[in-house]
Formats: sequence, structure tokens, C-alpha cells
Amino acid sequence: MTVAEVDRLVIEANAHNAMQGVTGALLYDGQQFFQYFEGPAAGVERIYERIKHSSKHAIVSEVFNGPVPRRYFSQWHMASKKAGSETLLELGTARWLQVKSGMQARFAESEGVRRLVAFWGEGGPVLPLTPVAPA
Ligand SMILES: Cc1cc2nc3c(=O)[nH]c(=O)nc-3n(C[C@H](O)[C@H](O)[C@H](O)COP(=O)(O)O)c2cc1C
Repeated sequence: MTVAEVDRLVIEANAHNAMQGVTGALLYDGQQFFQYFEGPAAGVERIYERIKHSSKHAIVSEVFNGPVPRRYFSQWHMASKKAGSETLLELGTARWLQVKSGMQARFAESEGVRRLVAFWGEGGPVLPLTPVAPA
């Protein structure tokens, strides 16, 4: 997909994600995507169904689907950023489930989300589309 096509995809994704309370980030290396999204379980499920049924890709592989300790991308219903294929590989093979043991099991920040947030904050612009409206 060209950058313009990815932009169009992200604009459309924003509208749908906003309706479902989903926020997230999309990384693209020119051929492959790495996508992270978060929100209420039902909304995440609906958005994932849309993504799986899209004709715009050949293979969808789920890396992690589970609880996270908080929302990490509250500013974007969806925004995209160019990344190197080594970054996509690194994120795809990182550990995404992190459980804190104790009296009660709690979900903690995983290596995967830490790497994603760090990459997202590094240099290069994030394409700002529809910022999440303040509550
Ligand atoms: C890499 C990728 C990411 C996508 N992300 C989202 C998303 O965050 N939210 C959403 O509603 N749809 C998302 N979609 C689905 C597309 O918007 C999809 O185009 C739409 O369901 C229409 O189906 P079509 O691609 O077969 O025309 C994504 C699709 C692809 C290929």
C-alpha cells in the first residue's frame, strides 16, 4: 500500500474505532503492518473482526489479546507511523503478557508495550488525524 492508501485506511479506521472506544497505533514498513489497539473488550472484538475481514491484507497473525494495565494510546483512535521491518519483527516477537504476582494477580506493563511506546515517541511524525475528544 502507498502512504496515501494507508492514510485513507487510518481515516476510516478512526471513525470506526471512535464509535467503539478503541484507541491504538499502526506501524507500517511498506509491506507489513504491526497494529496495537486497546479499549473495552466488546469494542476491541468488533474492530478486530473488521480488520480480519479486510481484503487489504493476506495474512493476519495475532500476537496478544488480553488485559493491559491501562490505556497507552489515549490520544489516537488510530494513527500510523513508518517503521523499519526490524522494528516490526522486534515488536512481533516481544513478550506482551506480563503478570505481577502477589496476593492478587495483576496485569503489568509488558516488554512489548514498553517497546511500542518507546518507538512511538522516537523522532519522526505521527500522522495526526482525529484526536480523541476530551471526556
Ligand atoms: C492494516 C490494517 C489495519 C486496519 N485497522 C483498522 C482499524 O483500526 N479499525 C477499523 O475499523 N478497521 C481497520 N481496518 C479495516 C479496514 O478499514 C477495512 O478496509 C474495512 O474493513 C473495509 O474492508 P475492505 O478492506 O475489504 O474494503 C484495517 C485494515 C488493515 C489492512
